[in-house]
Amino acid sequence: MAAIRMDGKALAAKCKETIAQEAAALERKPGLAVIIVGDDPASRVYVNSKRRDCEECGFYSEEYALLDGTPQQELIELIELLNGREDIDGILVQLPLPKGYNEEEVLLAIHPDKDVDSFHPQNVGALTIGRPVFLPCTPAGVMEMLDEYGVDPAGKRCVVVGRSNIVGKPMALLLLHRHGTVTIAHSRTPDLGALTAQADILVSAVGKTGLITADMVKEGAVVIDVAMNRNQEGKLCGDVCFDQVAEKASFITPVPGGVGPMTRAMLMRNTLEAAKLHQGVK
Ligand code: GUN
Repeated sequence: MAAIRMDGKALAAKCKETIAQEAAALERKPGLAVIIVGDDPASRVYVNSKRRDCEECGFYSEEYALLDGTPQQELIELIELLNGREDIDGILVQLPLPKGYNEEEVLLAIHPDKDVDSFHPQNVGALTIGRPVFLPCTPAGVMEMLDEYGVDPAGKRCVVVGRSNIVGKPMALLLLHRHGTVTIAHSRTPDLGALTAQADILVSAVGKTGLITADMVKEGAVVIDVAMNRNQEGKLCGDVCFDQVAEKASFITPVPGGVGPMTRAMLMRNTLEAAKLHQGVK
């Protein structure tokens, strides 16, 4: 079987169009503040693309680039200032923070109503009990792609490889809430291939090039690659050996052009939702 390639770039463009239309109908533009600390080149690329996304959606955006070494307290004070601003609906601190910062403490400073990444424990808890305010961006993007291509997780065996707070855990919850039978695999899982080979829906979010080979994938499975790695030639790639797995899967996401653009579109959607919340719009 040759898999259908799930086009995240096209779907993200479609989502952003709808978001832009909804944003234009609001009294005040949604506003997003993005904070980057240090000069990690990958983080800089992500932050630049978020600014472009805001422009495309007609949002107001602000960027704060702080030097590595800025005291954590200063960063927290900036967040507190932004928490109190009426024109700012969402606050995003680009991760990872440089060494020496306590990410947990920093993220806790973001007001839950402005937590468009959905990383605050209050929002994580709300998601866990099935009453999310904001959906975590990457897992939400994956669910949008599954819906777009008519893949219903209900009753399916889902295996999520990776247990991070940003992707693995919330991904498992969203699949569970849609009635998938979900297993989370991680670095201590013995015989990973035997487990992934049982998956109807396989999501890999590890960050290890070449991790998922064709022998680890069931014939006809839906394969979602969340990773963003660079191979030996410096080219962007995911965890999945795309060419060989595409021969076996029914649907597969490419890297780049798969989950990545959808993550960004979901950030825009959360910012719109935050703006609606702040403006009392349903
Ligand atoms: N770094 C990598 N992914 C993310 C994300 O989804 N949000 C933030 N804030 N930083 C990231």
